[in-house]
Amino acid sequence: MSPLIIPRPDDWHVHLRDGAALAAVAEFTARRFGRAIVMPNLKPAVTTTELALAYRDRVLAALAPGGGFEPLMTLYLTERTAPQEIDRAAASGCVHAVKLYPAGATTHSDAGVRDLERVLPVLERMQERGMPLLVHGETPGAGIDPFDREAHFIDRTLAPLVRRLPGLKIVLEHITTRHAVEFLRAARPGVAATITPQHLLHNRGALFAGGLRPHFYCLPILKREEDRLALVEAATSGDPRFFLGTDSAPHARSAKESSCGCAGMFTAHAAVELYAEAFEDAGRLERLADFAGRFGAQFYGLAPHRETITLVRRPWTVPDSYGFGEDALVPYRAGETIRWSIEATGSVP
Ligand code: DOR
Ligand code: ZN
Repeated sequence: MSPLIIPRPDDWHVHLRDGAALAAVAEFTARRFGRAIVMPNLKPAVTTTELALAYRDRVLAALAPGGGFEPLMTLYLTERTAPQEIDRAAASGCVHAVKLYPAGATTHSDAGVRDLERVLPVLERMQERGMPLLVHGETPGAGIDPFDREAHFIDRTLAPLVRRLPGLKIVLEHITTRHAVEFLRAARPGVAATITPQHLLHNRGALFAGGLRPHFYCLPILKREEDRLALVEAATSGDPRFFLGTDSAPHARSAKESSCGCAGMFTAHAAVELYAEAFEDAGRLERLADFAGRFGAQFYGLAPHRETITLVRRPWTVPDSYGFGEDALVPYRAGETIRWSIEATGSVP
C-alpha cells in the first residue's frame, strides 16, 4: 500500500496538563500536529487571558525548540467571566476559543457554569467578536442516565442556545452519539463538532471486555455500536462540520486504576495513526486529509498548513507505559500494535 501524504494536521481538542505531566506529554502532540486547541481545565482553571498567556509560555517551554508547533489557547468560562475578558482574549491573538463546562460534568469542571443565563453577556460578546464557544455537551446530575447525558444536553441546552445566539460559533466537542450527528447535520452554519479516535474505534463494550477496563473510561462515555457507526459515517463523509479533536486526556496510572478512577484516555502518542485506522476500516482513507488537516482550520478561520506528514502502513507496538512525573501513564492500546506509523514531515512542493 502506498504512503498516505496529508497536510500537517491540527488537534482541535487536547489536554496538555501542567508541570511534570505537561513535560511528559507535550511532545507527543507537537510531533504530530501543527497546532492544537489546548483545554483550560487546569487546577486552578485558566480563566483569564493573562493566565492563558502564561500557560502558553509553559507549553512552549516544555517543547524542544524549532518544532514549529503552535498552542492555541482557550479560556475556561465561569459565571464570573466579564465580557471585557473576551476583548482581551481576542486582542491577544493567542486565545482562540472559550470552553463551557457545565459544572460537575467532568474532570475539573466544578468551576464551570451552573446557570447559562449568567454568562449570556459573555456569550453575546463572543458572538460579536467571532470567538468560538467550545462545549462539553453533557447535562450533569444524578437524575440523568450517564449514557443519555449528551442527548439531554443537546435537546435542553444546546438547541435553545444555538437559536438564541444565531451568530455564535459553537463546537460541540467529542460527540459520541447518533443523536449528536443528526443534530449537527440539521444545525445552522457556524455549528461544528470534534470527534475522538476512541469514539470512532470502540463502543461501550470496550469498557467491560473480560473485566472492568478503566483505561477506556472517558467522558462523554463510549456509547452503543449504532452510535459509533454514525460517528464513523460523519467523520468520513467529507462534511466540513466534523473535524479532528483527540480529547487526549492523560491521568497517572494510580488515578485510573483506582476504586474511583478518573475519566480520560491518553491517545496523543498515536493520535493521527489511530484516525488512519478508523478511516481505513471505513474504506475512506482518502477523506482523512480534510478531516485532519483542513476542516478544523477552516472553521477557526486559519489557513491549513503547507507542510505535510506521511503515514505508512507499518505496525508498531505501543509501550506498556510512559513516564509521567513520579508516576506512570498507561497509553491507549498499551502493549498492543497500531497499524500505521508516521514516516516523515515535509513541505508541500
Ligand atoms: O474524559 C475526559 N477527560 N473528559 C473530559 O471532558 C475531561 C478530560 C480530562 O480533563 O481528563
Ligand atoms: Zn476534553
